[in-house]
Amino acid sequence: MSPQEKAAAIAGSKGNRTIAALTCYDYPTARLLDEAGTDILLVGDSLGMVVLGFPDTTHVTLAHILHHLEAVVRAEPKALVIADLPIHTYETPEQALETARKLVTAGADAVKLEGGVRQAEKVRAITAAGIPVCGHLGMLPQRVLEEGGYHKKGKTPEQTRAILAGAEALIDAGVFAIILESVAPAASREITAAIPVPTIGIGCGEGTCDGEIAVITDLLGSFPWFVPPFAKPEANLATQTNDAARKYIERVRRS
Ligand code: KIV
Repeated sequence: MSPQEKAAAIAGSKGNRTIAALTCYDYPTARLLDEAGTDILLVGDSLGMVVLGFPDTTHVTLAHILHHLEAVVRAEPKALVIADLPIHTYETPEQALETARKLVTAGADAVKLEGGVRQAEKVRAITAAGIPVCGHLGMLPQRVLEEGGYHKKGKTPEQTRAILAGAEALIDAGVFAIILESVAPAASREITAAIPVPTIGIGCGEGTCDGEIAVITDLLGSFPWFVPPFAKPEANLATQTNDAARKYIERVRRS
C-alpha cells in the first residue's frame, strides 16, 4: 500500500474499528510491534525524553528524528509510520514542507505537527504536496516551557471550543487524523463525535477517542523514572533488565 492509501485506511476506520497506535524509535521494536499488528508506529519527539535523556521534547532536532526514523523504516513495517516534525523545524509553511520532505525521503509515510489554527497553513503546504499529515491538539509538549508545565486541556467550554476550532482548521487543511493529548474525557468525547476524522487519544480517558496511542516505554515499563498517571504497563522491563544485568555480573565475577 502507498503511504496515501495507508493514511486513508486509518481515516476510514472512524466508526468501524478502534485504532491502536504506539510510539517506536528503533529497528527491533518496530519489527515486534509491527508483527503484533499495531496500526501506527509514531517516531515521536518523546524519544528525546525516553531514549535520549533530555528533560523535555524541546531539545529534539531533525537529525535525532531522522536517525531513529531510518532505524524504524529498516524493519519495513506494514503499519503507517508517522514521524514528528521537531520544534523549530516548521516555523513557516515553506520550512514545514521542506522538513516534511526530508522525513518522507527517510521513509516516513506521514508526518505530525503540534497545534491548531496557527498551524493550518503549514499543514496545507504539506498536504498539497501529497504528504499525509496527522494533527496534534490538546496538551502540546513542545510548548511546555511557554506554558510552565504540562496542563490538562478541555476542562472548560472555552478550552473545548478552542480545541474544536483547531481541529476544524486542521481538517480544512487536509489532516487524516488528530492526536488528542491530555484532554478531559468529556471534551474528548465531544470533539470525537463532532469531527469527521479519527481522534487518537493519550491521557484522555479510555474509550473517549477513535483510537489510543501509548508511548512504548510506558507500555513496556522500561522507563521507571517517569510514569504518567494514565499509563497502563503490560510488562516490567526495567526490573527484568536490572535483574538480567545483576545475574550476568554475578556469573562473570564468579568465573
Ligand atoms: O512524541 C510523542 O510520543 C507523541 C505522543 C505523545 C502522541 O507525540
